[in-house]
Formats: sequence, C-alpha cells, structure tokens
Amino acid sequence: MTQYDINVRQGLPTEMQTLLREYPRDDWPDHPNLAASTRNWLGAHSSFRQLAAILQSDTQQVIDKTLAQEDHAKRLSRFGNLLVHNLHGHHHWEDHSFFPELEEADPRFTRGLEMLETDHHEMDGLLENLTGTANRYLKLLHLSPTDAERELSALETHTGGIDRFLTRHLTDEEDLVVPILLHHRLRG
Ligand SMILES: [Fe+2]
Ligand SMILES: [Fe+2]
Repeated sequence: MTQYDINVRQGLPTEMQTLLREYPRDDWPDHPNLAASTRNWLGAHSSFRQLAAILQSDTQQVIDKTLAQEDHAKRLSRFGNLLVHNLHGHHHWEDHSFFPELEEADPRFTRGLEMLETDHHEMDGLLENLTGTANRYLKLLHLSPTDAERELSALETHTGGIDRFLTRHLTDEEDLVVPILLHHRLRG
C-alpha cells in the first residue's frame, strides 16, 4: 500500500492542492476558462456516480425484498454493462491521451496524475470482480434461485465497493484536473 493508496487517502493530498486553492470548486461553474469539453467530462463523471449508486441501491433493495428479482436482473445487466463498458473507455482515454496532455502543460502534477492512473488499474480489478459475480448471479437466477440469493451478499460487497471507490476517485480527479485546465486555459 502506497502513501496515496485510494483505500487510505481522505481526499486530494495537500501537496497536490496548489492550484485547487487558487481555483476552488465553487468557482468552476462560472469560470470563463471552463470549456464545453470540460463540462462534458464532468457530466460523464456524474453519470458514473449515478450508475454506481443505482447498482448499489438496487442490490440493497433486492436483499430487502423491495425490488423483484426479475426487475433487478434486468437493471443489473443493463446498468452494470453500461458502467463497466463506459468506465473502461473513459479510463483508457484519460491514461493515454488526457493525462499526458495535462502533464505536458503542468509537470508539477505528474505525481497526482500517476496516482489517478494507479486508481484506474485498481478499478479494473473491482470491475472484473463485479462482472464475474453479476454474471454468476444472473445465471443462477435461472438455474437455482436459492443459490442466486446466496450470491447477493457478494454482489452487495462489490457494488458498495465500487460506489465508494468511484466517489473518492472522481472527486480527487476533478480536484486535481479542473484547476489545471482552468489555469492553463486548456481544451477550449
Ligand atoms: Fe479517472
Ligand atoms: Fe475521469
């Protein structure tokens, strides 16, 4: 576990907040340097937060028996696929195109960008676990609903873990990246 491990950090590390202090979150929406592409990128983050929250609360509801298993199965397969697929594409673009551009613009934040890239690798493992458990659960629903029910606690662990992970990662990423974009007037 490194000092910047997502499982222990409580927010963007102080030494990476140099520009965040100059460009606090409350100022972003009306800032003249906030490009349309940056708004779109923030919008993608909102959709990831929503999807993760849906997966987490749906699983809780099916455990509490306030959501029918067949409705849950449809939603899990639809929203789970959407989250996994879109996150993979998003991370690939960030690692290979977006972060190198930011690093070139402001090398002071190289360590922060590496930290975010490490988060992405860890997220790959979480998404893989979620996919495996969700597929097993969906298959068991047809074969043996009682066994499927036993998979629910594993599913709850994975959906809850991804929800917490994404909340931390996306917030730290925005706190690091948006001030760099605003300061250097990038992507306008
Ligand atoms: Fe990211
Ligand atoms: Fe992102």
